[in-house]
Amino acid sequence: MTRRKPRFIQTHQSDSHDERSAAIAGLMRTPADASPKYFYDRLGSHLFDAITELPEYYPTRTEAAIFAAHGAEMAQQIGGRSTFIDLGAGNCAKAASLLPLLDPARYVAVDISADYLRDALRRLQKEHHALDVVGVGMDFSHSPTLPSGVLSQEDRTVFFYPGSSIGNFTPDEAATFLAGIRAQVHGGGLLIGVDLVKPKAVLEAAYDDALGVTAAFNLNLLRNLNRSVGTDFDPRQWRHVALFNEGASRIEMHLEARREVDVRWPNGRRWFREGERIHTEISCKYTVDSFAALLGRAGFQSNQCWTSADGWFAVFWARV
Ligand code: AVI
Repeated sequence: MTRRKPRFIQTHQSDSHDERSAAIAGLMRTPADASPKYFYDRLGSHLFDAITELPEYYPTRTEAAIFAAHGAEMAQQIGGRSTFIDLGAGNCAKAASLLPLLDPARYVAVDISADYLRDALRRLQKEHHALDVVGVGMDFSHSPTLPSGVLSQEDRTVFFYPGSSIGNFTPDEAATFLAGIRAQVHGGGLLIGVDLVKPKAVLEAAYDDALGVTAAFNLNLLRNLNRSVGTDFDPRQWRHVALFNEGASRIEMHLEARREVDVRWPNGRRWFREGERIHTEISCKYTVDSFAALLGRAGFQSNQCWTSADGWFAVFWARV
């Protein structure tokens, strides 16, 4: 039997001129901001994996428990032989645990961190010799529309967006993003994990853990900016801040200057006062009803939802 190999399509060039200009514009704003996509170089992807092992970071294991308890029922609803599209696949571990249940014809893994994805897919293909595996190195933070040629008209498409990554968009952005997924659903649907509102102390500990792994993840964004944009950030001059904004129902992560900092890049610079912040990420928390309403707004007609016993996390199967 000939061994299959994963195919790769790469659309993301991390040093594109537009991306660099957008990153510099963010640094020049007041308050400054930086796109969370700069978390995910190879080291950042490993740091994120470490976060998912932390006792404080409940989303990954809570979602996994939902899949373990209800995966068979989900698979029955979803049906087999689909093209299973994993958005933000990372180490592909979540999809890998569902593949035996879902039995897709094709697995399409999409991630901005293309090198990391290649390694993960080579490992996955060894476990699933017969599966057609496709890797797409793509920045889908602006649009989930896959490059032409990845999907064909005949594909029954099932999108997978676990881990509550949808929370990293504002609700308006999330509605647009979900509508973009909906437009590519043919006969299948969207299986999506959503983090739910819970006590502030639990939320803040999950994003500011005792070991400082989330702090390292946040600070690593500065190293990635140095490499991609040409800035000269020294991570030691910055501190990690994570707080729950109850009014907006979201965690906000920032990097705060420990003292006055002068950051330079080719043809530019910015002074940051002591205590001034760069906003790096939001992580919105929903209720079951508020997320069902968002799916409706994005054009999904029906949904089914499974929640964890503690009510901390939900998985929705949404259909067109
Ligand atoms: C990827 N995303 C769902 C994570 C979250 O929980 O919002 C990113 C993260 N940021 C800090 N910890 C984890």
